[in-house]
Amino acid sequence: MCGIVGAIAKRNTVPILLEGLKRLEYRGYDSAGLAVVDGGALRRIRSTGRVAELEKFAQADAVSGALGIAHTRWATHGAPEERNAHPHVSGGVSVVHNGIIENHDAMRERLRAKGYAFVSDTDTEVIAHLVHSNLQGGRSAEHTLFDAVKKSVAELIGAYAIAVVSESDKSCFIVARHGAPLLLGLGDGENFAASDTSALIQVTQRVVYLEDGDVAEITLGGHTICDARGNTVARPVFVSQLTAGAVELGPYSHYMQKEIFEQPMAVANTLEMVTNAHSVAPQLFGADAEEVFRDIDSVLILACGTSFHAGMVARYWLEGFAGIPCNVEIASEYRYRDSVPDPKALVITISQSGETADTLAALQHAKAIGHRHSLSICNVPESALLRASGLRFLTRAGPEIGVASTKAFTTQLAVLALLTMVLAKLRGRLSAEGEGDLLDSLRHLPTALASVLQVEPLVKVWAEKFAGRHHALFLGRGIHYPIAMEGALKLKEISYIHAEAYAAGELKHGPLALVDEHMPVVAIAPNDALIEKLKSNLQEVRARGGELHVLADQDTRMTASDGVHVIRMPDHAGILSPILHTIPLQLLAYHAALQRGNDVDKPRNLAKSVTVE
Ligand code: F6R
Repeated sequence: MCGIVGAIAKRNTVPILLEGLKRLEYRGYDSAGLAVVDGGALRRIRSTGRVAELEKFAQADAVSGALGIAHTRWATHGAPEERNAHPHVSGGVSVVHNGIIENHDAMRERLRAKGYAFVSDTDTEVIAHLVHSNLQGGRSAEHTLFDAVKKSVAELIGAYAIAVVSESDKSCFIVARHGAPLLLGLGDGENFAASDTSALIQVTQRVVYLEDGDVAEITLGGHTICDARGNTVARPVFVSQLTAGAVELGPYSHYMQKEIFEQPMAVANTLEMVTNAHSVAPQLFGADAEEVFRDIDSVLILACGTSFHAGMVARYWLEGFAGIPCNVEIASEYRYRDSVPDPKALVITISQSGETADTLAALQHAKAIGHRHSLSICNVPESALLRASGLRFLTRAGPEIGVASTKAFTTQLAVLALLTMVLAKLRGRLSAEGEGDLLDSLRHLPTALASVLQVEPLVKVWAEKFAGRHHALFLGRGIHYPIAMEGALKLKEISYIHAEAYAAGELKHGPLALVDEHMPVVAIAPNDALIEKLKSNLQEVRARGGELHVLADQDTRMTASDGVHVIRMPDHAGILSPILHTIPLQLLAYHAALQRGNDVDKPRNLAKSVTVE
C-alpha cells in the first residue's frame, strides 16, 4: 500500500527519495510523487506511471533539494490520476499520507468556509490545508511546523502516517503516525523517515519505530518525538538486520520466483531454534508462554488472506493433535461481529507484514471484549502486531517483496506445527517418541521442500494450459482443503484467472454444475485417510468432462489417463504434508501469470501491506 519517504541532508535528497520509493514499489501503488524545498521554494513532481518515470521527470526538470518528501500512492479516495497523486500542497506546505482520514468530508467543509480551494478528490488534501491553516503564516517561537502538525493531527479521525514539509522552514520535516507504519532512519548529519526499513537501506540501518500517536520533528542533527499525550519521549534505536542483498533479485527474474525458491532456507531459519533440540519448550513463544499455555482452554485465530489459510490448516493440527478447540476467523469479519469472548482463549494473529489494518484491529477488538492471552506469528520485527501481542514468534522468512505471499505462508505453517507440538505436550497428548518423530519431520522439512521444488518443469506444462483458461477449480479434503484455497487465491491474484476452491465432498452440493471440458480441476491428493473419498469426488468431475490435475503422493494409487494428469510429490512429510503441497500450487500460479504476461510481483489492484481497512 502507499509508501512514504522523507529526508533532510546537506546533499540533494532527490536520489535518496527516489531510491526509497523504488524499494517501496513492492507495497503496490498506482502513482508516485515527490516535493522538495529547493532554495526557498517548494517544487513538486508527480506521475501516474512507475517510479522510473518520476525519476525521468526529476532529471528533466533538474529537481533537487536538501529537504524532501516522497510517496507512492495506492488509490483509495479518488482515481489514480495525477491531480490525486501525493504530495498535496497548500500554499508552501506539502503533505504525503498513507491511510484514510475518516472525517475528511466535515473537515473539507470547514476548510472551504475558511477559503481553501480543493483540487483533488483525496482525503489527504484536507491535511495539507489544515496544516497550512494551523501554521498561520510561518515560523515563530509559538508557531512552528511541528506545532501546526501536532495541532492538525489532533483533529484527524482515521488511520494515517504523514510527512510534511514547508517552504517557510527548511530546517526540518515533520512526521506523524496513527495506525499506519512509519519509522525514522538516523544518519550521520542527515536523517530520514519511511514506511519500512527497506526504503532506507541505502542510507542507514539505524531506525526508530514510531508508536501510534507520535509526532516527530526531524532535523539535520536529530529528532524530537512527542507522544499522543504531548510529552517529549525517547524511543529506542534499533539496528536493522536487513541487508541490501536480502532485497535484491539476484539471479531470479521475479521476487515471487526468488521467494518460492527461498522456502527451504526460510523454513530452516525459522526452525533454527529446534534444529538441534531433543524436545520443544513453550518458551519458544516467549518467557511467559508456559504460564499462558497452561491457562488456555481454546484457540481463536484471526488473520487475512494467505495468513488466514495458514490458520485454517492449524485448526486441523490443534484440534487433531493437541485436542484444543480452535476457531479461525477472517479478521475483517471478526472485528465487527458481536462475538462471545472466552477469557481463557489464546488469540493468535498471523500476519506476514504485521501491519495489516484488519488484523491489528481484530486483535485490539479481541482484547477490548475481554481476551487476555495473545500470540502473534509475524515476519516483520518490531511490526505493530508483534508489539501489540503478549506472546510472539518471529518467522524468519526474510523480506517478502512479491505481493503474493509464498515463503511467509510456509514459515507460518512451520511455526503453527511447532505450536501444536508444544500445546499437545503440555496437554499430555504427545509422547516422547511422538515428539522425537515430529522433530525429525520438522528437521527434514527444508530438504523435502527442496526436492518438491524439482517438480517445477512438470507444473510449468500444466501452467501453459491454464494460462488460456478463464476459470479453474481447486479441490482438497481435510487439512488439504485450506491448501486448495491457497492454490486458488494464488492463481487468481497473479494470473487473474477466476479460481475457486472447494472441499471436494462439497462438490455435489452445487459447484459440480460448473464442471465441463472447459474447467481445469486441480486436486490435492496425498495418501491420507481421505484419499478414497477424494478419488470418488474426482470420478464425479471426470464423468462431467472436467480435466483433472492431480498432485499425488508416490504411493497414492492414481494413474495418468486421458484427461487425468498426475504429478507425484517427490517427498512426503507426514502431518506436515500441507506445507509441501503448497509448493506446486505457488509454481502453477507463477508460471500461469508469466504466460499471460502479467506483472507477477505487482499484480493489478493489489498491495503488499494492507494498511487500510
Ligand atoms: C495473498 C496475500 C494476502 C495477504 C493478506 C494478509 O498472496 O499476500 O492475502 O496474505 O493481505 O497480509 P498479512 O499476512 O501481511 O497480514
